[in-house]
Amino acid sequence: MFDNIYMAPIMGNTDSIYRKIFSEHFNSINKAIIPFINKFRIPGDNRIKSNFDLDRQSGIYTIPQILTNDSRFLSDMASAYSRAGYNEINLNIACPSPVMTKKNMGAALIEFPDILDKLLTAYFRNPPLPLSVKLRTGMKSAGNFKTVMDILCSYDITSVTLHPRTAEQGYSGSIDMNSFEYALQKTPSSLVYSGDINSHEDAGVLKERYPELNNIMLGRGLLQRPQLAEEIKKECTIPVSIDRIILFHNSLLEMYEKHLYGEKQILDRMKAHWVYFSKDICNGKKILKSIKKSGSLKKYRNCVSEIEKYKLQK
Ligand SMILES: Cc1cc2nc3c(=O)[nH]c(=O)nc-3n(C[C@H](O)[C@H](O)[C@H](O)COP(=O)(O)O)c2cc1C
Repeated sequence: MFDNIYMAPIMGNTDSIYRKIFSEHFNSINKAIIPFINKFRIPGDNRIKSNFDLDRQSGIYTIPQILTNDSRFLSDMASAYSRAGYNEINLNIACPSPVMTKKNMGAALIEFPDILDKLLTAYFRNPPLPLSVKLRTGMKSAGNFKTVMDILCSYDITSVTLHPRTAEQGYSGSIDMNSFEYALQKTPSSLVYSGDINSHEDAGVLKERYPELNNIMLGRGLLQRPQLAEEIKKECTIPVSIDRIILFHNSLLEMYEKHLYGEKQILDRMKAHWVYFSKDICNGKKILKSIKKSGSLKKYRNCVSEIEKYKLQK
């Protein structure tokens, strides 16, 4: 039905450990974009390499994402990722956080097509890696969207992933299908659609309306329902037992315990996953509340052992 089903970058959730463990328990995801790095969060060469090794084991084609408006930083990071073995980088023109947009980065670049054009010209003089972009429709409106799409199409961009909302909308509210249709018409084979695909029916409706759309990205829906990509591929609902979710969870916890330092770091990571896991479980709100309260790994494990009694919603 679709050539590529991507795992979306979700900061705080879709890290290299999540991708690796995900691939051991679920399937049908073949590509993933890594949550962004920027000048304030630069991984060292060793960290990049160890993440790359995990990504290779996952079998998912993984693309590091960079949030910047500085061509030197973009090229330097692309070189570092190339040395580690990655084959592509992704430029974030989508982040709605005011911390980034105030610095003319992320979605703010849509407001400044000249800065974007200069950034791409400088990068493509000697690109260390092929580049794809992740995009929104604008800051407050889609006024510049067509101009930005036209600029992107004047470079050798591998693919464009579009979350068809403005930065002001964040991650909710109506989806701008007019902008999406413009992007699809400009980049028919490589456009990736991202937004609100929470069931195989959602993906089916999209495919029926846009048969030429070959690439989709799953974000919050996949975190909530890790079998979602499989369901989309098979075009049916796949019931998953709570035991399978708990097994997935146990593998995640075990690997975080091996790789992260300190109970707080591990607990924070697991709590971020329960925000989504809990949504598909009967009594999920109550479960999430007790998990969020647990201040030690011992208490956390006690909470999780209680959950085995509950059932998934469907
Ligand atoms: C908590 C959170 C963190 C996100 N982090 C990133 C990120 O680092 N880079 C990025 O391009 N998009 C990021 N996104 C956007 C998602 O990749 C995706 O485009 C968006 O959630 C819409 O898809 P969905 O409705 O399937 O979740 C984030 C979204 C959320 C909710």
